[in-house]
Amino acid sequence: MLPSPVLSEVHAEAGGFSGLFTFRAPRYNRCLMIITIDGTVGSGKSTAAAHLARRLGAGHLDTGAMYRALTLKALQDGLDLEDPRALTEMAASSTVELDGEVGAQRVRLDGLDVTAAIRENRVSTHSHYVARTPGVREVLVAAQREFAARAGDVVAEGRDQGTMVFPDADVKFFLDADPEVRARRRQLELEERGQVRSYRDVLREITERDRRDITRDVSPLKAAADAVVVDTTDMTIEEMVDALAADVERSRKGSA
Ligand code: C5P
Repeated sequence: MLPSPVLSEVHAEAGGFSGLFTFRAPRYNRCLMIITIDGTVGSGKSTAAAHLARRLGAGHLDTGAMYRALTLKALQDGLDLEDPRALTEMAASSTVELDGEVGAQRVRLDGLDVTAAIRENRVSTHSHYVARTPGVREVLVAAQREFAARAGDVVAEGRDQGTMVFPDADVKFFLDADPEVRARRRQLELEERGQVRSYRDVLREITERDRRDITRDVSPLKAAADAVVVDTTDMTIEEMVDALAADVERSRKGSA
């Protein structure tokens, strides 16, 4: 039987800031494996991470949700998105909670449920401001490492998990797919949330978001040298999760 998670509060303090970035993470009484999944928009990493975490009985660390929550707060507070100091101070004094079931995770910002709000398109298109701010990343990376330290097995998903946050992860994946396929997937995902967008707009938007993630100075999106690169263009969700799970199993056997 899988160990049952209890919620534990994690406080992470980042260099020089008096505020606290707090989040709640499921707590398992073991610390075994870190699996990272990085990749482009629409490559399938969120779906893969949630399914793989559920299959392995691991915690799911959705780091994109953290950047999204802080982007939402910056927009709501009318902060100057070009002001790294203001963004960093905001990050260091925020409370973000990730908790709940894998696959049905709730995200709370300063006590309020923002699970749906962080998926709004304006959050997606403005997230590069907080993502390119070194001070914000420092706060979030500290919180992500704390999450992993307390969550036992963890599947950590984002852009820099295998390269910067968990360079010693047990298994690293980098997911990508043809832009046209990624745009269709993203369009469908938005449609399921009631946001109807043209294919052209979605393609332009994801291309631009990836370009920004790849070309930024701090923690750019790239595959770690030791990552398994998976092209998900022609894969179903099941095939993708089976392929990743098989690699994790091989790695487990190899290190047993
Ligand atoms: O993965 P998701 O699309 O939810 O992430 C939202 C944004 O947060 C990304 O476009 C990226 O700019 C940023 N991000 C990041 N590093 C991560 C996760 C997300 O810079 N580890």
